[in-house]
Amino acid sequence: MMQKLIVTGGKRLEGELVLQGSKNSALPIMAAALLAEGECVLKNCPRLTDVYSASRILGCLGCKSSFSDNTVTVDSSAADCAVIPEELMREMRSSIMFMGAMLGRMKECTISVPGGCELGPRPIDMHLSAVRKMGVEVSETGGRIVCRIPSGRPKGAKITLPFPSVGATENVVLCAVLADGETVVNNAAREPEICDLCGFLRACGADITGDGESRIVIRGKEHLHGCEYTIMPDRIVGATYLSLIAAAGGEIILKNTCSAEMEPFISVLEQTGCSIYPAKDRIYMRSGARLRAVSSPIRTMPHPGFPTDAQAVLMAALSVADGTSVFEENIFDCRYRHTDALIKMGADIQVMGRIAVVKGVNRLHGADVRATDLRGGAALAVAAAAADGVTEISGISHIDRGYEKIEEAFRQLGGNMKRV
Ligand code: EPU
Repeated sequence: MMQKLIVTGGKRLEGELVLQGSKNSALPIMAAALLAEGECVLKNCPRLTDVYSASRILGCLGCKSSFSDNTVTVDSSAADCAVIPEELMREMRSSIMFMGAMLGRMKECTISVPGGCELGPRPIDMHLSAVRKMGVEVSETGGRIVCRIPSGRPKGAKITLPFPSVGATENVVLCAVLADGETVVNNAAREPEICDLCGFLRACGADITGDGESRIVIRGKEHLHGCEYTIMPDRIVGATYLSLIAAAGGEIILKNTCSAEMEPFISVLEQTGCSIYPAKDRIYMRSGARLRAVSSPIRTMPHPGFPTDAQAVLMAALSVADGTSVFEENIFDCRYRHTDALIKMGADIQVMGRIAVVKGVNRLHGADVRATDLRGGAALAVAAAAADGVTEISGISHIDRGYEKIEEAFRQLGGNMKRV
């Protein structure tokens, strides 16, 4: 029986929450642990289905990993396999991060096209052409991708990405830290999770500079060692809970946050009339009497632009704002799949290609809706909290890929969400 979330909405929310660790940091860092010949202790790791998938992949490569609360310990000293079965590759998009890590550690790998949320086509052409530049021979046969390195070790190279892809940047870094010579990545993605990955690798002895900027320089080392590292807070989960308070009305103290990294989101949310007071590692927010629409278009862009991952949750809040807001989705081709469910709940949204026009309505109402992807699913939970009556959300395995115990977070804020 598939689980559902039952939300009774329409109630003001109030309380304190400790923000979970970042999924999009934890996954590449777990892949990176393969590069360290020793034990890596990763603290603040969220307990999520995608994290368990990463741990299964590590197991299949011959590494040991174990969880204790939010600490995961990975020991890669006995890693002996460079093949990931197709069914594990399909479980999530981040399985592709193991390509760079396996090339660094085992100097070869066999993978297939990764799975992940359906947000339109999500090719891996940039990942493959970047590693080719580093001396990797890639052949694709019968759905399998086989990578070999004739020279025996990845070679440093100058790589200019056609677009600052987060995943391609991370894969190049993973492949380059144990490469022969210096690698320069131009037009690199600047997302905070890339800095977190590089911070972890530096703690293992890697030589990386420039992360967080568009030009990253990696000088290859012979070996990396284990370390203890704390994964950064999840800025998208943070954006979700702030959107929840904006939508339902109320106030929140969000603890263990990364306020500076959340600034591109916070500066837009502030325009809705919410009062937001970010301190270094916590954020206090109080909603206004009635949410105001955002007057200039909200354009998703690579960091430090407005994050595509926060588009859906903010849209859910703005569907009950006073006035019309406009979104422009520039990162993914098909990231408005949550709008049908929001419309079913009474929202007034029109989608035309990459544009969504959201005319705020007075109230949303409960409905039976289905999550079709991770952040779109979270947007339905945000809308449900603001809606009158009961909303039943199905397809919640999508939500569980990114949100640790979402129903407990709701309850802690005085909301009414049950998992059945
Ligand atoms: N792209 C290509 N070719 C490639 C790689 C990417 O055309 O070889 C395109 C993608 O199809 C997309 C755009 O480039 O249109 C951006 O993709 P990017 O590679 O930057 O994204 P990603 O690495 O696949 C990560 C996050 C996503 C997040 C994006 C953008 C992880 C595990 N995933 O994906 O997170 O939306 O960056 O910030 O880090 C989520 O958490 O819900 C999620 C989807």
